[in-house]
Amino acid sequence: MTETFSHSGANDVAALIAAAVEENEARFIDIRRRIHEYPEIAFEEVQTAALVAETLTSLGIEHRTGIGRTGVVGHIRGGRPGPTLLIRADMDALPMQEETGLPYASKIPNRMHACGHDLHTATLLAIGAVLKRMEDRLAGEVRLVFQPAEEAIGGAKEMIADGVMEGVDMALSLHNRPEIACGRFGIVHGYANAAVDSFDITVLGKGGHAARPYAAIDPIVIAGQLIGQLQTIVSRNVRALDACVVTVGSIHAGEARNIIPDRCELKGTVRSRQPEARDAAEAGLRRLCEGTALSFGAGCELTYRRGTPPIFNDAGMLEHTLRAINAQLGDVAFDYEPSMGGEDFALFAEMVPSFRLLVGSSQPGRSDKVHNSDYQPDERSIAFGTLALARTAVDLLS
Ligand code: NI
Repeated sequence: MTETFSHSGANDVAALIAAAVEENEARFIDIRRRIHEYPEIAFEEVQTAALVAETLTSLGIEHRTGIGRTGVVGHIRGGRPGPTLLIRADMDALPMQEETGLPYASKIPNRMHACGHDLHTATLLAIGAVLKRMEDRLAGEVRLVFQPAEEAIGGAKEMIADGVMEGVDMALSLHNRPEIACGRFGIVHGYANAAVDSFDITVLGKGGHAARPYAAIDPIVIAGQLIGQLQTIVSRNVRALDACVVTVGSIHAGEARNIIPDRCELKGTVRSRQPEARDAAEAGLRRLCEGTALSFGAGCELTYRRGTPPIFNDAGMLEHTLRAINAQLGDVAFDYEPSMGGEDFALFAEMVPSFRLLVGSSQPGRSDKVHNSDYQPDERSIAFGTLALARTAVDLLS
C-alpha cells in the first residue's frame, strides 16, 4: 500500500492538493477578510502578525515572530533531507481610504489593503496548511515568510538582516493581478520588475531682480533646460532594447514673480530593468547635471541613491513553476509583460534562484488596478495561488 502511494505519481499528488485546498478555502477567505478589516501599514503589522502566528499554531507549524520587526517565519520540515525553499508573502496595507462598501471593508480610516497583501498572507497560510499535511512526502524544508513593509520597501531587508535567508536554496513569491482573469497566471521571463533609484538635484544659481536677469544666474531657466536634457537619457543613452524611465516628480524654486531665486530643487526617480540600463541612466544623469550647470556658469549638487534592485526570474524556477501549474491546473499560465514598479522580493531573488508568480484576481465590473480605493480582487485567487505554489513546492522537494 505504501509502495502504491509513493509511486502513484502526479494524479495522486494533484488530487491530494486539490482536496486540501477545497477543504480549507472558506477558512482562508475568512482569514483574508479579517486581515482586510484591520489593515496595518509598514512595520505596524502587529495584529496581522498575531493572526498569522495564531493560524500557524493551529496548523501545527513551528514558527518565530518578531523577525524583521513585525515579520513571522514558519518552518515545515519534510520527512527526508533536501533543499530549503522559501515562500514569501507581504502583509502590509496602504495609507488610503477604502471606498468599496463591502461588508468586510476596512474599519480603520485612511488604511486599506488596496494591493491585496491580505490575499497574499491568506494564500501563504493556505499553502502552509496544504504542505503541512503533506510534510512526510517532502525532501527538505519549506520556509514560510510573512514579510512586513513591502510598500514602504524595507521589510525584506530587515528580515534578511534577521537571518531569514540562512540555508535557503531557492525562493518563490506571488502577487495578485486584477488585470489577469481569476484562475489564470502571468509568467514574466527574466527581469520582471524595475530597479528603483531616486535623485535629488539642486541647481545653484545667483539670485537677483527679475528685471535684471543678466546680473543673476537664473536656476529656473537652467532647471528647465536640465529637465529636457534628462529625457535624452532614455532616448539616447540607454540601449533601445532595454527598459528605463526617468521622471522628475517634484520641482521647487522661488516664491515671488519678481525675484530670481538662488536655487532650484528637483526630485525624481529612475526605473530600470537591466543593470546596463541602470548604469547608463546614473552616468547620464551625473554628466547632464554637471554639464548643464557648467554651461550656464552655475553649480549643481546631485544626490543619487540606488534603491531596490530589479527582480530576476530564474529560468529554472520559472520552468518548475510553469510545469507544476500545468500538472495541477492545466494550460492556465501565459507569458506576461514585466512591470516598471519596484518590489523588494528582489532582495531575496538576488541571493538565490527565485520566481515571482502573478496570480489573476480580476472581478468583472470592479477596478482592475491595485492601489485604487475601489480595488476588489476575486477571493478565489487565494485557492488558485495555493494550488499553484503548493504544487510547485511539492514538486521541487520531491
Ligand atoms: Ni503589492
